Amino acid sequence: MQPETTIIARPETAPAPTRSAAHKTVLMCRPEHFTVTYRINPWMRPEIPTSTATAVQQWQSLYDAYVGLGYDVELIDPIAGLNDMVYAANGGFTLDGKAYGAKFTYEQRVPEGPAYMAWFAEHGFEVHEPQQINEGEGDFLLSQGAILAGHGFRTSLESHDELRSIFDREVVSLRLVDPAFYHLDTAIAILDDENIAYLPKAFDEGSRAELERRYPDALHVNEEDASVLGLNSFGDGRTMLIAGRATDFDRQLTERGYETVGLDLSELLLGGGGIKCCTLELRR
Ligand code: ARG
Repeated sequence: MQPETTIIARPETAPAPTRSAAHKTVLMCRPEHFTVTYRINPWMRPEIPTSTATAVQQWQSLYDAYVGLGYDVELIDPIAGLNDMVYAANGGFTLDGKAYGAKFTYEQRVPEGPAYMAWFAEHGFEVHEPQQINEGEGDFLLSQGAILAGHGFRTSLESHDELRSIFDREVVSLRLVDPAFYHLDTAIAILDDENIAYLPKAFDEGSRAELERRYPDALHVNEEDASVLGLNSFGDGRTMLIAGRATDFDRQLTERGYETVGLDLSELLLGGGGIKCCTLELRR
């Protein structure tokens, strides 16, 4: 006798998709000269002592995690006196074998611009010297084939036109309004080619509306996670490296099918940077 047809109950939520990893090549700078002696963002408190040894150790854990995930990690030599050079994301923006150099807002970081451009030139990039103030991948993020571009604190709106003419891509200008989230990579995390996570209150109304329109499924992080620079994270589409203290962000990522690795970069947070700040993606 035929068994009766059984109706299998559907799970209440759709299962998380399986994510695949893209191969990543990144540039990093060992924080051999890291310290905080001036204040150019609200996270920096020169009166609080820092430990260069701890910074190096924590940075090494990020480096090792990338190597463990199969990334190619390239290095630029740190320069004495450039405390912030560890934040490689600010060194420029690369795409299609071209590198758009950085032109820093604050004099303390200005010499990093030419140092990174020299590295790009020596490592096979067509270098475009910037005319306009911009802090590289700190404010420029590639997503859905377009460049999301921050302005308001460090990067000028004029640089967005420069970016457009060099890379011939759509450039989406987004205005940052909260001084604690002064670079775009502190307010948006790129999860993969299509998806992002962000902190809505870091943007003005128009930019928030633009983000909602482009990314109806985006993750929104809470203030607690944002305040440990949880969004300042990096991944290959399958595994996201995030601040270990960003627990709700971790939960949300896991629900969406991403693997997560939590890291402690607390020493580098004293300079106002995290995982993504220490990482410049190289797209040859
Ligand atoms: N102390 C550095 C500055 O204020 C931190 C840069 C952080 N980098 C980043 N990509 N968000 O310029």
